[in-house]
Amino acid sequence: MTKKHMHLAFDLSWSHMGGRWRMPGSWVGSQFPDIRMYEEIARIAERGCIEMIFFGDGSGIPDTWRGSHEEAVRWGIMWPRQDMSPWIAAMSRVTEHVGFGLTYASTFMHPYYTARLLNSLDILTNGRMAFNVITSTRLSDAANYGFDDLMDHGARYDRMEEFIDVCRSLWDSVAPDTFIWDRETGVVGDPSKVRRIDHDGKYFKVRGPLNTMPSPQGRPVLIQAGGSPRGVKASAYFADHVFGASKPLKLQAQQRVELDAALRAQGRDPESVGILWDVLVVVGETSEAAKLHKERLLTAIPPEAAGAFLSHYAGFDFSTLPDRFTLGEVNAAIAAKQASPAGFVHQLAFTIGKDTPISRREFFEHGLRDANLWGSSACDRMRGVPRWLTISGTSKLLPTPTGSATGCSAACLHRGERASPRSVPGSGRSVSGCLTRECASSC
Ligand SMILES: Cc1cc2nc3c(=O)[nH]c(=O)nc-3n(C[C@H](O)[C@H](O)[C@H](O)COP(=O)(O)O)c2cc1C
Repeated sequence: MTKKHMHLAFDLSWSHMGGRWRMPGSWVGSQFPDIRMYEEIARIAERGCIEMIFFGDGSGIPDTWRGSHEEAVRWGIMWPRQDMSPWIAAMSRVTEHVGFGLTYASTFMHPYYTARLLNSLDILTNGRMAFNVITSTRLSDAANYGFDDLMDHGARYDRMEEFIDVCRSLWDSVAPDTFIWDRETGVVGDPSKVRRIDHDGKYFKVRGPLNTMPSPQGRPVLIQAGGSPRGVKASAYFADHVFGASKPLKLQAQQRVELDAALRAQGRDPESVGILWDVLVVVGETSEAAKLHKERLLTAIPPEAAGAFLSHYAGFDFSTLPDRFTLGEVNAAIAAKQASPAGFVHQLAFTIGKDTPISRREFFEHGLRDANLWGSSACDRMRGVPRWLTISGTSKLLPTPTGSATGCSAACLHRGERASPRSVPGSGRSVSGCLTRECASSC
């Protein structure tokens, strides 16, 4: 039997938010966004064979809850957030192998700028970049880019697919063997290898070509996380890897089935696209220590701060909830606002029933406790993982470490599969990728 390997990425989006910054052992002697701390994490991640360090993003201060950013600012709810691209550049200078995942929204960004930026980062990191393409379900993001409401859910994905079409054409617009750099003749490049893209679509008009060197990977690894049927279809259209949300196992298995069908419809091999499941892990030396830590985390922010988090996350103001309601009603209201119909409320409805009445207090309790917030020692937790991965049809995890900004111990227990190096046409170089790159040879 072939030995199975687990792939691990490391979600560093949250280490300083939601009260985690003040847990014992967190950010000691440092304050977000101290680059020295990130460099240290990158070194640790590389030593632990993590294949990718991931940064999610949102470009506005959460203000869905009561239409105000007050609670988010007061309690550090999904803010502050820097554009992490310069941090990645610095982290790449102290590592050699670990990959980096960077997030931008196709709903707001322009593909020419984004393609050029990711190309430059891929060059700087020597082929270690992945691009998490999001639509954004958050009004606080949209309002900074001229929108009064969220763009229609389906239109956001149409725009995303066209955005990626443009990026891919741009990344291909300069052939890998364009550059000559002949000192004798002074010739820099071969004009026949550089072509315009002349894209004229529904959302974008871009002439091209990209005015940069081709990057080691040619283009970054593409990741997409949409969980709705339209989101899954977009993943099948272009994603190299899919991000899957923490949700009940049955829903994860269902997403795998839906993704496979969508990939086949695109003429793609389902075996070639993995799902990297998001898991929130709380680890400790013993199960008791981890459980204690979990309780500490759950009380690190007050209930109104949890409301601000959940509202931002779902794109719906939960302060408007009546005393009693059903989750089916709430999810219909969320979908009508063009936010995600497959988010936290949908998942909770799957667990407790969409027609079961629930009180506000119970709702927030569920939201805060999140069924997938794991609390046990790393070894205990990892014992159940193989069965879970088999059922959800994948071998990839995206642990979100909590409590300590240097705590990657859970992830360090496992190593990723080595991928064979592939050569970059015309460049005489080779890059290798698991998620993005080969694990360090010392692992
Ligand atoms: C692992 C993971 C990472 C995500 N990262 C981000 C992010 O950085 N920013 C963001 O706005 N949404 C993020 N999302 C949300 C998704 O992009 C998407 O909006 C959500 O899954 C809803 O999908 P749908 O619109 O197809 O219903 C993430 C989701 C997952 C599962």
